[in-house]
Amino acid sequence: MQDTPISSSPLAGRHLVLGLSGGIACYKAAELCRALVKAGATVQVVMTDAAAQFITPVTMQALSGRPVYSNQWDAREGNNMAHINLSRQADAIVVAPASADFMAKLIHGGADDLLGLMCLARPLERVPLILAPAMNREMYAHPATQRNIAQLRADGSHVLGVGAGEQACGEVGDGRMLEPQELLEELSAFFSPKVLAGQHVLITAGPTYEAIDPVRGITNRSSGKMGFALAQAAWRAGAQVTLVAGPVSLPTPRGVQRIDVQSAQQMQQAVQSCVERATVFIASAAVADWRVDGVADHKIKKGEGTQAPALSFVENPDILAGVAASERARSGRLYCVGFAAESHDLLAHAQAKRQRKGVPLLVGNIGPDTFGRDDNALLLVDEQGSQELARASKVQLATELVAIVAQRLRS
Ligand code: CTP
Repeated sequence: MQDTPISSSPLAGRHLVLGLSGGIACYKAAELCRALVKAGATVQVVMTDAAAQFITPVTMQALSGRPVYSNQWDAREGNNMAHINLSRQADAIVVAPASADFMAKLIHGGADDLLGLMCLARPLERVPLILAPAMNREMYAHPATQRNIAQLRADGSHVLGVGAGEQACGEVGDGRMLEPQELLEELSAFFSPKVLAGQHVLITAGPTYEAIDPVRGITNRSSGKMGFALAQAAWRAGAQVTLVAGPVSLPTPRGVQRIDVQSAQQMQQAVQSCVERATVFIASAAVADWRVDGVADHKIKKGEGTQAPALSFVENPDILAGVAASERARSGRLYCVGFAAESHDLLAHAQAKRQRKGVPLLVGNIGPDTFGRDDNALLLVDEQGSQELARASKVQLATELVAIVAQRLRS
């Protein structure tokens, strides 16, 4: 997914204690530390002795820009109480990797090293503890570990999931620590206000591809970035998200269910198959208005002396207008948001399009100024009037738009 610029990252300005317990996955903690700093967080690394067997404090100091703590008797602290001082300064303690042994210790309130001591000493109601487990698949599946994870959750810790796949030991299964980018996304979501909790957001994104023959087709320059950023922002805001994507090469945002389609007709079918569960529909896709009438079964050959083929077109279904006219939308159980890609007279076109499509909110943008770019400027049009969202990254705009939609759902 797109990198979140510092200003719009929910991690900007946060102070995190990054704890490392022993495990091969310590190498991923280095990358995580770097990503957190890049997102605008300050990071204080605390390592157990076992973690220092896998990665050096030198690396973690260089990446965090702060000396690493590992000893509960560290004389650098004036009061010699590193566990108190470090935990009081933190917005959260993130233990990545959290080994099986470290989690077993935590459930008993074990405090024989600085990291355990600090987790126990943290003010429970103010400093969340987030754990990223990492271990061999048998260790992870063991009833003792599963019992410990359940107990940690019951005690108020936030235990993240694990990845599946090939492990350092050569075995294959569940237990890998999540990748640094996945952890970054989990932490970004953790710090995002849950303004869409309980909502199911359905989003269309990207272009559609209308075939001419088996090797050629007609499409447009939409990159899908805005729709994917909206999916990411909606998931971070606590919604269940389904993303119907035209042909784009963007990675699926974390937590989002993605349905890939090619043509406008396929997009409509995919939307129809999930719209009954949705409470918000955001149509950000640049759907082709027409498709080729009578797609050729075989590649159309140039041949010698033949004329260029004459193509005729039929109009595609208007997906948004169809959804907006449904019983579900008209009865207020589904809130619809349309987009308008225009080349000029944005306000007038957006207002007219909002009425034509029958949606409460329409988001206008200038097509040539947005297609393929990471930033955009938006003009929101509703019954009352219009509101500009100044040029910013699409990730930032998506966060703002999600907050606006959430506000409208509430009122
Ligand atoms: N839309 C849709 N199905 C279509 C065409 C458009 O769902 N067949 C949706 C888009 O996803 C967007 C809105 O309708 O939310 C407006 O799309 P746009 O391409 O700007 O407008 P059109 O309806 O195609 O009108 P025009 O091309 O004349 O501007």
